[in-house]
Amino acid sequence: MELNIVAVLGAGTMGHGIAQICAQAGLDVRLYDLKDEFVQAGLDRINNFLKKSIERKKITANESVEVLGRIKGTTQLAEAVQSADLIIEAIPEDMRLKKEFFMGLIGKCKGNSIWASNTSTLSITEMASVTDRPDKFIGLHFFNPVQLMKPIEIIKGILTADETVKAAEALTLKLQKTPILVKDSPGFASTRLGVALFLEASKMLEEGVASIKDIDVGAKLFYGHKMGPFETCDLVGLDARLNNLNSLLESTGNPKWSPPLLLRQLVASSYLGTKPGSKGGYYAYFGIDKEGA
Ligand SMILES: NC(=O)c1ccc[n+]([C@@H]2O[C@H](COP(=O)([O-])OP(=O)(O)OC[C@H]3O[C@@H](n4cnc5c(N)ncnc54)[C@H](O)[C@@H]3O)[C@@H](O)[C@H]2O)c1
Repeated sequence: MELNIVAVLGAGTMGHGIAQICAQAGLDVRLYDLKDEFVQAGLDRINNFLKKSIERKKITANESVEVLGRIKGTTQLAEAVQSADLIIEAIPEDMRLKKEFFMGLIGKCKGNSIWASNTSTLSITEMASVTDRPDKFIGLHFFNPVQLMKPIEIIKGILTADETVKAAEALTLKLQKTPILVKDSPGFASTRLGVALFLEASKMLEEGVASIKDIDVGAKLFYGHKMGPFETCDLVGLDARLNNLNSLLESTGNPKWSPPLLLRQLVASSYLGTKPGSKGGYYAYFGIDKEGA
């Protein structure tokens, strides 16, 4: 199935980036959020990214205008989804919220449209179960920052049709990303590996083995990682990391996924990472300059 029109639902950290790369690949995009200001904030982030790309001579000014022209922001859900071939949900990581949201899409979309969730940890099969199309429901897990990160984890629920997987793989290639196919299981492959590293790094911090900066530099120089576990956490969002851990803890019942005390305290104190409106993340809390990390 050819996917030409995409509705991206949620214009935050992930949604704006997903909308941008879809438009850059020539797709028509509807970018939906609850309020005009949220939609506008997403469009502004796209605009800023494109401006920097022009400065770096990665794209021309004309290409930027074309990309922006393919993205239509809206707060009207029915308008966003009615003609879409693909729906990509990027609202907060909360199973109850996501299920309610998908139930609200029933009757508003084309019968053959594919619905995808960008969840980092939650069960695709469980979300699909409340929809009218579990065979056309899939996980499309983009990485942050979406514009730069190469992989897209494709998560097959137990009722997802092979045809849906094929369409998702074709889309991934069209977006010039690398598909990684995994079965529906808590944390999939990427989040499970990422939080395992973060938990060990947090234990090392608690034990005074090294500073966050030295742990991060070590991860990069010992193992060739592009970013260390604390830098990654600041970028992903401390609240998002906490959600990942709580979700893994709840779905597996295994205490090894218990969130570290400092992470819980930082989130409670509004240290949510480098996203707009936050006090910052681990680096800001410890007053450590990230330069050279
Ligand atoms: N942040 C990351 O690094 C990252 C990486 C991969 C996947 N994810 C996943 O992507 C999803 C979105 O995360 P995010 O970091 O972009 O969150 P975010 O908080 O930055 O953005 C979420 C957006 O959804 C909107 N929203 C909230 N409730 C809504 C509703 N009922 N209807 C429509 N919009 C609603 C909010 O207004 C907000 O703009 C989550 O499932 C998260 O686990 C996040």
